[in-house]
Amino acid sequence: MAEAIRDTFNRPLRDLRISVTDRCNFRCAYCMPAEIFGEHYRFLPKPEILTYEEITRLTGIIVRLGAVKLRITGGEPLVREELETLIAMLRPIDGVDDLTLTTNGYLLPKKAQLLKDAGLNRITVSLDSLDDDVFRRMNGNRSSVQKVLDGIAAAELAGLQPIKINCVVQRGVNDHTIVDLARWAKDKGYILRFIEYMDVGNKNGWRMDEVVPAQEIVDRIDAAMPLTQTRRNYQSEVALRYRYQDGAGEIGVIASVTKPFCGACSRMRLSPEGSLYTCLFATQGTDLRAPLRDGATDDEIEAIIRDTWGSRIDRYSEVRFEQTDEDRAKKVEMYHIGG
Ligand code: GTP
Ligand code: 5AD
Ligand code: SF4
Ligand code: SF4
Repeated sequence: MAEAIRDTFNRPLRDLRISVTDRCNFRCAYCMPAEIFGEHYRFLPKPEILTYEEITRLTGIIVRLGAVKLRITGGEPLVREELETLIAMLRPIDGVDDLTLTTNGYLLPKKAQLLKDAGLNRITVSLDSLDDDVFRRMNGNRSSVQKVLDGIAAAELAGLQPIKINCVVQRGVNDHTIVDLARWAKDKGYILRFIEYMDVGNKNGWRMDEVVPAQEIVDRIDAAMPLTQTRRNYQSEVALRYRYQDGAGEIGVIASVTKPFCGACSRMRLSPEGSLYTCLFATQGTDLRAPLRDGATDDEIEAIIRDTWGSRIDRYSEVRFEQTDEDRAKKVEMYHIGG
C-alpha cells in the first residue's frame, strides 16, 4: 500500500469520489430542484467532461498517493453511457481495495449485472421513503418507489453486496416514514443510513429547522426497534453505527450538521470536468484537465495533487455556523461533485 499523503491537519488521503456526470434523471428538491434544473439548464457539454481514459489516468496517480477506496457518483452515474467500461478500467489499478457506486437505482435493472461483471464490489442506493407520494414529491415526480425497489433487487441478484440504502431526512417531508423504511431494510438485510439534510450548494433553500438531528432519528427508530450503538468500521467512516438489539441488522446516521466528522476526513473529490475538490462544501477546485490535455507527465500531475492535498485546511461542517452568507454563497453544488 502506498504511503498516503497528508494535509495540514495530518489527515491522510484515503478515499477518492469520482463524479462522472453532472446530469441526473431525478430532480430531488434538496439537490437539483426542478425549477432551477429545467429544460434550459446548461449541463456540461461532452468535450468538457473527462473521458474514461482521463479519469483512469488521474485515478492511477491518486491511488499511488494513498487512496484505497473509490466511489463513483454524479449526478446520477448510470446516466453516463457504458459506465461499466469505466469500472472495468479502474478495477485493475493496483492498490484499490474497494470499488463502489452511489446511484438512485432507476437504471439498475439494466446495469447491475454489467457492473458486477466489470468488477464493481458493492453499491449504495438512495431511497428516501417507501411511501410513493412522499417519494415522488421528493424526486420531482421522476420515479415510483417500485422502480427503485426493482433496481435494488437487480443489484442483489447480481451479487453487489452488501447493499447500502441512503435516506436523506427532511422534517415535515419524509421524517414520518423513517420507521417503515427501517423495518423494511432490516427485514431485507440492507444497511440503511439516514443522512441529515445538509446545506450543500446554494440552490436547495436549506433551513436548519428542516434538519432532523441524528439523535432524534435514532431515538425514533429505537422506540420501535431497540438499538445499541456500535463501533465505526474504520476511522474515517462518516456514519455512526447502531445495531438492532435482536441481533438482526444495523443502521447508520450521517450527522454532518449536528456531529461533524471533519477531524478524520480523508476524502478527495474529482468533478466531471476534472477539478479536484478537497471538501464537499468547497468553493473552488484545482483544475487537472488543462495540464492533462496540455501533455503534462504523470509526475507533473502528481505534484499538483500533492500540493492541493498538502495545503488542505477544509473542515466546513465544524465551522458551518461561523460562516458568513457571502462565504456560503460560493459553494459548489452537490450534483456536481457527488455526495
Ligand atoms: P461506505 O464506504 O459504505 O461507508 O460509504 P461512505 O461512507 O463513503 O458513504 P456514502 O458515499 O454513501 O456517503 C453517504 C453520504 O454521506 C453522502 O451521500 C453524503 O451525503 C454524506 N457524506 C459523505 N462524505 C461526506 C463528507 O466528506 N462530508 C460530508 N459533510 N458529508 C459526507
Ligand atoms: N443533504 C444530504 N444529503 C444529500 N444528498 C444529496 N443532496 C443532499 C443534501 N442536501 C444525498 C443523496 C444521495 C447522496 C449522493 O447524497 O440523497 O443519497
Ligand atoms: Fe439525482 Fe441523487 Fe441529486 Fe436526487 S440526490 S437529484 S438522484 S443526483
Ligand atoms: Fe470532509 Fe468537508 Fe465533509 Fe468536513 S465538511 S467531512 S472536511 S468533506
